[in-house]
Amino acid sequence: MRRAIYPGSFDPVTNGHLDIIERGCKLFDEIIIAILVHPEKKPFFTIDERREMLAEVLHDIKRGDCVLRVDDFQGLLVHYAISQKAHAIVRGIRAISDYEYELQMALMNRRLEPGIETVFMMPAEKYSYVSSRLVKEVFQLGGVLDGLVPAVVQRRMKEKVNG
Ligand code: PNS
Repeated sequence: MRRAIYPGSFDPVTNGHLDIIERGCKLFDEIIIAILVHPEKKPFFTIDERREMLAEVLHDIKRGDCVLRVDDFQGLLVHYAISQKAHAIVRGIRAISDYEYELQMALMNRRLEPGIETVFMMPAEKYSYVSSRLVKEVFQLGGVLDGLVPAVVQRRMKEKVNG
């Protein structure tokens, strides 16, 4: 039974995240999509909203026999991973610019907990420039997000600003 954690802010979940989860399903029996609770950061969506959207969009993932679960966590990722009896941490790498930060995190996590491996996965090229940060910026400036985030995310973003 190979269990992985796919951690992140998911504020909001993008089609790039879903692409990574789908690829991860080919490698793992279970993936826990774990949202970091970041008390200092002012997020666009609350943790509950992010959980709801993730749970909804995971229905459409080609998962084979892989079990997908959504959770949130606070504190050190490796402590959370141990508490869940996970073997690996999955992270997506889009471009070389991601690599430096991801390498630092992976090596720090390995120092903290040598038993947990970080597995880097590359999303489809068509998502290589998609990030939650840019998605929010484009949305706030009136740009179209079709194909970059799931329809439910677009809808919830509009609802959020229109009240
Ligand atoms: O989607 P993000 O914001 O790039 O995800 C970053 C995340 C959640 C993976 C990272 O910030 C994290 O693991 N935070 C938990 C605190 C922690 O373990 N810090 C030490 C990492 S070396």
